[in-house]
Amino acid sequence: MERIVLAYSGGLDTTVAVRWLQEARGFEVVTLTVDLGSQPEVEAIRARALAAGAIEAFVVDARAEFVERYCWPALQAGALYQGQYPLATALGRPLIARHLVAAAERVGAGWIAHGSTGKGNDQVRFDVATGALKPDLKVLAPLRDGMTMTREEEIAYARSHGLPVKVTVESPYSVDENLWGRSIEAGLLEDPGLAPPEEAFLWTSSIDAAPATPLTIALDFESGVPVALDGSPADPVTLLDRLNRLGGAHGVGRIDMIEDRVVGIKSREVYEAPGAVILHLAHRALEELVLSAEAARFKAIVAQEYARLVYEGKWFASHRLDLDAYVRHTQRFCSGHVEVVLHRGSARISSRSAPASLYRSRLATYSAGDEFDREAAAGFIKLFGLPIRTQAQVQGLESTDSQCPTPHPPTSATAPA
Ligand code: ARG
Repeated sequence: MERIVLAYSGGLDTTVAVRWLQEARGFEVVTLTVDLGSQPEVEAIRARALAAGAIEAFVVDARAEFVERYCWPALQAGALYQGQYPLATALGRPLIARHLVAAAERVGAGWIAHGSTGKGNDQVRFDVATGALKPDLKVLAPLRDGMTMTREEEIAYARSHGLPVKVTVESPYSVDENLWGRSIEAGLLEDPGLAPPEEAFLWTSSIDAAPATPLTIALDFESGVPVALDGSPADPVTLLDRLNRLGGAHGVGRIDMIEDRVVGIKSREVYEAPGAVILHLAHRALEELVLSAEAARFKAIVAQEYARLVYEGKWFASHRLDLDAYVRHTQRFCSGHVEVVLHRGSARISSRSAPASLYRSRLATYSAGDEFDREAAAGFIKLFGLPIRTQAQVQGLESTDSQCPTPHPPTSATAPA
């Protein structure tokens, strides 16, 4: 009998899939549950997998690995898909794939399986990541590859096969959650004209319910990663978890966007990612101090490319690793202290400092002690503007809006009193 390792969440789809893979496809099924911070009920999940017919049920706590080796590099890169989505789900998939591949090696399986549908990005990420890690491993996604059951049929199948599923009230949304954020889609959210119902949110309070008093938090960074919150050093998982709670309580980190999926469709996506949103904001504030102007400009281009690669499931591509090497090198001076004010859904920077800050008061000041050489400015501008002056002399003015607009006579409404 061939063996397959199934990524198992404990929900209805994957519990039915355990039995379906045995019955319809003749596999010996091993399940693997990877904890990235969604707090699975580990023992209950293991028991359910075994009762559904798995010959072995593994659970891996990958939270620290996830934050340190996936979230932090994405943070250092400034990776936000379409400038907004911190990529929680997209970062989790390659790590789950890595553990699936390791488990397959351990139990001698030639196949892995995951519970993605045929319409989203997640199937792309699992399949592409697996292909990169172990090209000869075969991948099956039951929900895409033959297990065509409606929810009602899945429940009936579970009942008739004695599968231990908890049939709860159907969640009106499709949700994926890890320490970097919570992704919410489908159901009512499919109408982009409709504001997300308050019940879609679990991590963040509404603006109305958030405290009226702002909270200022302090973050210390070393080489582009956070190492302390409010002065207390904390390990990455604890720090991110605490930040999610603090930000969430103040309603920070809600994102509502139209997203361009890899499979070519636009979809309405809602996220809660308080920790990720605050960290990106604080990290950028530090980079504003320590990166040269041209490094900052170029790094923004890299950030977009990095985000696209992560979104498209190309985490293990050598191109991503190349960008990572660049990003890591840019972070060597990115250490310092940032304070962020959380208030009713917003997060803003109130203070930043860094030992390697390029901000020089003596150069920036308009007050006494100014050391900036104003006399040099005139000469600088003469050469700085030389090419454009030359071009104007030789080729004349080309753009129409360079002509002065006809002045309008002031009307009584706009004329100053
Ligand atoms: N649109 C997001 C992404 O592609 C979230 C996907 C959420 N997955 C889910 N099964 N609900 O990364």
